Parts: sequence; C-alpha cells; structure tokens
Amino acid sequence: MTDEIYKHWAVNEKDNGIVCLGIDVENSSTNVLSATVLAEFYQILTKLAKNPPIGIAITSNKNKGFIAGADVKEFTKISNQQEALELVQYGQTVFNLLDKMPCLTVAVINGFCMGGGLELALACDYRLALEDPKTRLSLPEVRLGIHPGYGGTVRILRYVNPLIAMDLMLTGRSISTNYAKKIGLIDDAIPMRLLQSAAEKMLLKKPAKRKAPKISKLLNNFLVRPIIAMQMRKQVSKKAKSEHYPAPYALIEHWQKHYGNETSMLNHEAQSVASLSTSDAAKNLVRVFLLQDELKALATPNPGNEHGNVKHVHIIGAGVMGGDIATWCVSQGLQVTLQDLKAESLAKAKQRAYSYFKKRLKKPLLIKGTMDRFALDINGYGLQKADIVIEAIFENKEVKRDLYTSIEPKLKKDAIIVTNTSSIEIEQLCDAISDPTRLVGLHFFNPVTKMPLIEIVNGAQTDPDISQRAINFTKQIGKLPLPTKSSPGFLVNRILTPYMIEAGLLHETGSSIKDIDNAAKEFGMPMGPVELADTVGLDVGLHVAKLLSSEYGYSIPDSFESMVEAGNLGKKTGKGFYTWKKGKKIMPKSKSLTEKETKYIQNRLILRLLNEAVACYREGVVANKDHLDAGIIFGTGFAPFRGGPMNYIETAGADYLLNTLKSLHSQHGKRFDPDPGWQTISE
Ligand code: NAI
Repeated sequence: MTDEIYKHWAVNEKDNGIVCLGIDVENSSTNVLSATVLAEFYQILTKLAKNPPIGIAITSNKNKGFIAGADVKEFTKISNQQEALELVQYGQTVFNLLDKMPCLTVAVINGFCMGGGLELALACDYRLALEDPKTRLSLPEVRLGIHPGYGGTVRILRYVNPLIAMDLMLTGRSISTNYAKKIGLIDDAIPMRLLQSAAEKMLLKKPAKRKAPKISKLLNNFLVRPIIAMQMRKQVSKKAKSEHYPAPYALIEHWQKHYGNETSMLNHEAQSVASLSTSDAAKNLVRVFLLQDELKALATPNPGNEHGNVKHVHIIGAGVMGGDIATWCVSQGLQVTLQDLKAESLAKAKQRAYSYFKKRLKKPLLIKGTMDRFALDINGYGLQKADIVIEAIFENKEVKRDLYTSIEPKLKKDAIIVTNTSSIEIEQLCDAISDPTRLVGLHFFNPVTKMPLIEIVNGAQTDPDISQRAINFTKQIGKLPLPTKSSPGFLVNRILTPYMIEAGLLHETGSSIKDIDNAAKEFGMPMGPVELADTVGLDVGLHVAKLLSSEYGYSIPDSFESMVEAGNLGKKTGKGFYTWKKGKKIMPKSKSLTEKETKYIQNRLILRLLNEAVACYREGVVANKDHLDAGIIFGTGFAPFRGGPMNYIETAGADYLLNTLKSLHSQHGKRFDPDPGWQTISE
C-alpha cells in the first residue's frame, strides 16, 4: 500500500498497524473534494478494504484546516439534472465505501471542516477535532442553494438530535468543537500535541460508537415528524421564501418523508440535491460564492518580504468605526494601538472590544491573550512602529488633512496611510501629505465585525503598490477587497442612496413604511430600506445623501431632514421612521397590498438602484460586472439568490427593465431618467 504514489493523498502505514491517510490536495492551499480527489480516495479505500489494517486515521496534511468541502467550481460545469445526479451519486458511493470499511476509521479534524469534509467525517466511525477556536464545523450547503448530498443528511442523524441536526443544515452555521462535542457530532476535542495519538488510541481501544440521544427516537417518529416539520417551515419562512430559496424546504421535506430507511434516504438525498443544483437560485448562489474567491484572489499570494504581512496597525479615532476596526484587527492576530483625542472614547472602545471577545472566546485566558494585543495610545506612540495607519476620525476634510500633515513625519518610511472616509474623494485629502501616493481609502462598513466587504478606494495619485498592499491587508484580516475609483459615494453608498431616497419619497406620497419594507423583502432584500435607514442612523444616511445629492442631483425627502432635526435618528434614539423598543422595531398596522401594488413599490425602489448600478458600470467605478455584483451583495446584502444587480439585469432582461424605467420616468420625471449605459449594457 505504502509504495503507491498519489497526487492528493499520502498513505502511511505505521508500526502499530494503523494506516494514516493524509489529504493534501495538489496545487491548492486548502483541501477541497473534487471528483479526482474523491476518485483517488476511492481507489485507496478499495485497496485497504481488501487487506484491512487495524484502523484508518484520516488526517489533513495541510497546516490550515481539514477539508473545506466539495469543489464548488465543479457545480458550475453541470448542465443538467442527470449530470448533477451522477456527480452526487459518485460522492455517495465513495463515502458509502468509507462507511462500510471492514476496519475502524477515525477523522482527525485539525481545523475547519465544512460541507463534504464533514460528510466524510460523518462516514467514519469516530471523529476527533482539534481543540482550538479556529476549528469550526459546518454543513453550509443551503448557502449554495442545495443541501448535503454525500450522505450527510442521513448520517448526522445517527449521532445528533434531529432538531439540532436540521437546524445546523437549515442555517448552514458553523459551530465550535465544544458545541460539536456536546451535541454528539464529534467524539472529543483534543489539543494539538495529543490529537494524533488520541486518534490512534481510539482505533486500538475501539470504544463504543456515539449514538444519538434517546429523545431522537421520539423526534424522528413518523407521527411526530410532520408536526416538527411544520414548525421548521414556519421558522424558515421568516428568513427565506420558498420561491427564492427552495433548498431548506426541500431538506425539511426530505427528512419528513424519507427518514427511517438509510438506503432510500440516501437515494432521495441524491435526487433532491440534483434537482436543486440546477435551479436558478443555486446557480446564482454558487456564483456569489465564487465571486468571494474572485475578490480574495486580488491579493498577491506571497506579499513581498520587503513589506511582508502587516504586524502592527495604528488606528486614529476611537468612535463607532475606529473602535470596531481595532477590535477586528486584534481578533485577526494583529498588534493594535488605538489613538483618540478623548480618553473617554478610548475607554469605551476597549470596553466594547472586551465584550466582543468575552462573548466569542469565553475562556478568560484566551480573552486576556487577545486583549494583550490591544493598546490604548492617547499620545500616539504607535505611529512610529505601525506598518499601516488607519484614520477613522470625523468626516471632515480639513480636520483629516490637518491630522495627516501632523502625523506624516512620525511614520515609518514605508507605512501606508489609510482613510476610512465614507464620502470624501482621496484627491481632496492626499496633498496634505508630502507623498500623496501613500494615501489609500479602506472603506469599512458598519458593523465592522459583521460586514465582509472593504472598498479599496484608489485616488488618481495612489501608488498601485500601496493599493496592492491595502488589498493584501484586507485579505490578511479576513475581509473581501473591492477596488473602486475615488468618486463620490464610491460604489456601495452611491448605489444604495437613490434606493433609500426613493423609499422616503414613497412614504411621503402615502405608502406605509411596512409596505415599503415588505415589498423590498419580497424582492429578496434581507432588510427593507426604511428599516435599514433607521438601523444605519438617519443622521449618517442624511450626511451621505446630502453629499451625493450635490454631486448627482438627488432630491432628498423632507422627512429625512425633519426627523434628524428633531433628534429622531432611528434605532439608536428609539425613534426614526419606526419606533424602537429594546432594539426591536414596533411594526405599524396596515392593510396588505395587492400583488400589483407590491410590484409598483418594488419597481420604484429597485429600478433606481439598478439605474445607478448601470451608471457606475459605465463610469468604471469598479473593474467589471462581477465586481459590481460582489460589491452590492457583500456591501448591502442585495438578494444573493438573484446574483447581484448586473446579473439580475441580464436574467430579467435589460430591455424589459429599461422599458419599465422609461414608464416610471414618464410618471415621476427626471430621477428615473435612464442612464446612457443601458444602451450598451446587454452587449
Ligand atoms: P465617530 O464620531 O463615532 O468617531 C470619531 C472619533 O474620532 C471620535 O472619538 C473623536 O474623538 C475622534 N477624533 C476626532 N478628531 C480626532 C483627531 N484629530 N485625533 C484623534 N481622534 C480624533 O465617527 P465614526 O462614525 O466612527 O466615523 C469615522 C470615519 O469613518 C468617518 O470618516 C466616517 O465617514 C467613516 N465611516 C463611518 C461609518 C458609519 O457607519 N459610522 C461607515 C463607514 C465609514
């Protein structure tokens, strides 16, 4: 066995009779289960089955994680349901063989373990995971518009209470090793130095296999399942409509109707995934997933050693943004110094960071170790050591310029200067420093810890090398970089603002806030524009709207201005468009709308957004349509199943949308004036 050479697997037979099977996918930084990786695995297992060892330990030979899942790119090549079925059935055949091996098997999960990776682990007799906050386990297939298809929906139920198992698969959320152990998904969580020996001991000692808790029998009972399934559908429908996201509904149906006989459940699992994977929703969600990779790939794989990876970040301004950027950078392993004029702002920022880490890390030692990287620095000593200095002070051009002039002499020669401005063009700021090529915008979104995107704002003078380093830094801190031109509003705020303004105008002419938000959600937005305005803060929104209106001639609804004047700023003050109690909005009553009325509201909102998207594309605010779609999905949450505004224009039809825009133009005038870019959009 050991004499065979495989591309993606290393087979190592040890003196104690255990075979270690290490996955190390060739030419890839992470392990993904492509058809060829699975084919090799099948070949190895077939040989081992003929002459079984004492046991098999499946490990990852990458230093980063176990297995990230199936190779999503292969999904894009599927052209029909039959091909999808064959692909899924092949994966099932491989994992069925693993499941039925004549010797014991253990998955040694040394880091993240997702999708197909977890399904592989579930086909083993035992699962041990590395005790580390970075080890996360998940079955995120619903996020790609499908559900687990390599036996995961069947085997997870052998070990885990169905309510919990279904929740994991329906949300796609990732869980810690502690929780995974508690629910029975893994046998144990073990520190690194003991992990391999613990796995081998397990194979030698052969402890009893895990079983699902007793209550599972009752919950899986055929009379009980329909009642639970009904509840599950109700829960899911609060977040995802079946016509937009069919996968969670198919998964519930699959469990309800097919639980009981593993073989027929496996058959149905494959059929169901094959049918889902060819739906428009799945195709668009896969595209969205790949767009993330496209943005990540903008970073250079091995940043030059001269500028290497960033180690120390100095942040100036400890407000909403600066404080949270500091927390995020600390969470990503960086050394952070945070400067502000006010000691009070600094103290508040540190307290927020502490609460964040307490919730996430739980263990006092881990929290302390992390907080040790976070230093408050009212005197700005960190300026001299930092590789990157991020300015997040008031949105005021003169104040920002004065700050740059005063700090520049103190910085390391090759440090990058970054501004988090949300609206000021880099050209208006950069000549405050002697070397204007050093300034680049990194537009983080609020809340920083949740929003995945950062706009990389390149001024006309920004040095491409500085811009590349800013992209590399963005990737280093686990965010998605989107290079944009330094034009007012950059990409995301520019496209979002007319949409939000239109919501205000609709409200002023009689539509209820509830109807406006519902219509947007019916379209697939995660949150309606009115609720979004209240959440962002009407003062923040108004500031951006005013700035953009002077540039693009938007007329801002009077209600925005009067509410801000009255101090009704939205969620943070308890009153905006909605009334908020304990962070929850009170829903006003209103009659439900007809389909036609809903469509009318949607057209007004969405066409203003699309028209602005077309303008941004025409002006080259971002490099291409993919970047535009990625920016709007990851920066605003734009209906992911529609694949982004440009993709939506293509699927709904540019001509059809242009005609609708023209008819809105004739009813409401100038603000619906079609951008000249529509003429060329479908070319
Ligand atoms: P903020 O008002 O919450 O905080 C600003 C902080 O900067 C205050 O603590 C203030 O004491 C400090 N500061 C002002 N001048 C200073 C100086 N010369 N030296 C040191 N500290 C100084 O502001 P926020 O909302 O955090 O915004 C900061 C920047 O981020 C702005 O440019 C804003 O446009 C941008 N931004 C804001 C977003 C938001 O949602 N709030 C979203 C994205 C970007």
